[in-house]
Amino acid sequence: MPTDPHPFPHRHLTGIYGLQPWEISFLLDEAEQWIALNRGTAKHDDRLAGLTLINAFFENSTRTLLSFEIAGKRLGADVVNMHVAASSVKKGETLIDTAMTLNAMRADMIVIRHEASGAVHLIADKVDCPVLNAGDGRHEHPTQALLDALTIRRRKGRIDGLRVAICGDVLHSRVARSNILALTALNAEVRVVGPPTLLPPAIERMGVTAYTDFDAGLDGADVVMMLRLQRERMAGGFVPSPREYHALYGLTPERLERAAPDALVMHPGPMNRGVEISSSVADDAERSAIIEQVEMGVAVRMACLDVLTRARRGVPGWN
Ligand code: NCD
Repeated sequence: MPTDPHPFPHRHLTGIYGLQPWEISFLLDEAEQWIALNRGTAKHDDRLAGLTLINAFFENSTRTLLSFEIAGKRLGADVVNMHVAASSVKKGETLIDTAMTLNAMRADMIVIRHEASGAVHLIADKVDCPVLNAGDGRHEHPTQALLDALTIRRRKGRIDGLRVAICGDVLHSRVARSNILALTALNAEVRVVGPPTLLPPAIERMGVTAYTDFDAGLDGADVVMMLRLQRERMAGGFVPSPREYHALYGLTPERLERAAPDALVMHPGPMNRGVEISSSVADDAERSAIIEQVEMGVAVRMACLDVLTRARRGVPGWN
């Protein structure tokens, strides 16, 4: 029987979908060494020296782009950032042309963010190097789910058996989708909580329990993951007003009382303070892991860049 040659037998990271639980855990384990390096003074390792990383961002981003740029540079890669206004790009042929251009420039890793779900798959099929998904439409944002899992694992010591409530605009959220896949794979008990208009139909098929009552969904949760209200993806009609949304689904200190006494509060950023989360909760150093999530993001992205380029760097056993 042929066995997998190494613990991560994938060419690309287009999503959490299709990853085995041990493959997810392997990436989290790999990230640990980079947390230590990043906390030191000289934050450098040269394993990607001579390799070119292209960050192709077709949709606005500050923290994810910066995080991938820092991750690439800390591993010694040459990093090029390409911003493309989404409006100037026509889907289909143009996207494939862009992919062929990046390929002809002999990129060694391509990180893509795109407003269209599935755009990353399209590009991954056309190029010769590893492609990492930095968020495609409402589809997936795998490195966000990995950094969230790493944050939970470090703060709580485990993921298995934890009650995680993912709250808010689940419908428009690639972060929710990737997190549901990762956390259920790692045996967490996942709930999604939000207004009926912002919960995808038949979401239970992903192995989660859906709640429209925020208090009921928070009850006894070990982790409360808030999502940004994605107003740019709504043509209106999903929520009456940000104020009403806050009254019903905003995480306030009183609301948080419903969760477990030591519940961890998370948010992928950027936050709408006073809408999905109140500032006093977001800034509560004991409960909130929001800043730590950003730190874990760099470490996780370093791990992904390292692991996905092992074959092309000729690391023994990784061909
Ligand atoms: C998330 C995204 O872009 O999907 N943010 C991020 O990666 N920094 C979440 C969001 O935009 O709400």
